[in-house]
Amino acid sequence: ASGCKIGPSILNSDLASLGAECLRMLDSGADYLHLDVMDGHPALQGDMHMMVSRPEQWVKPMAVAGANQYTFHLEATENPGALIKDIRENGMKVGLAIKPGTTVEYLAPWANQIDMALVMTVEPGFGGQKFMEDMMPKVHWLRTQFPSLDIEVDGGVGPDTIHKCAEAGANMIVSGSAIMRSDDPRSVINLLRNVCSE
Ligand code: DX5
Ligand code: ZN
Repeated sequence: ASGCKIGPSILNSDLASLGAECLRMLDSGADYLHLDVMDGHPALQGDMHMMVSRPEQWVKPMAVAGANQYTFHLEATENPGALIKDIRENGMKVGLAIKPGTTVEYLAPWANQIDMALVMTVEPGFGGQKFMEDMMPKVHWLRTQFPSLDIEVDGGVGPDTIHKCAEAGANMIVSGSAIMRSDDPRSVINLLRNVCSE
């Protein structure tokens, strides 16, 4: 692959010092921040991964808060087209996520209207779960069909699993616990990035 961007998932950080943790990651060479938002929890700037039941209602607040990308789950809305349009009108990039149980055929009709497809490699919920290798055919299929689409993987990605992601064609790599729990986040970020450039 021709290189990936590495986005630490801040869900796994010490929430009492979120701002400092974001800075620590940017300082360690992160390309972007992946901020996980669940119902009842607030957020701030970055690529917002909205694991919420009504993604329609947070578009404006996230735009106002300075988010540059709004990633919602296909499963959570009845009208993806309207939501995509609303996100764009609010000046943000559009990410479309699918859970492990959702086949890639559901995402395909929207692929030309979005900036990024997120193939979840764990069930959404929390960090530190086991990487689902059987999601890689989805990534590979998307890469084949949509060569210029940004494709993100999220869940259980770290030094042990990055090879599979890069091989399948992912180019945006979310990594939570593998980076956040390391004493040397910079070296983990570099390692992940280097595997993608092999
Ligand atoms: C899971 C979140 C992920 C998670 C990743 O619901 O969307 O972003 O924080 O953490 P790791 O890399 O530890 O699986
Ligand atoms: Zn996430």
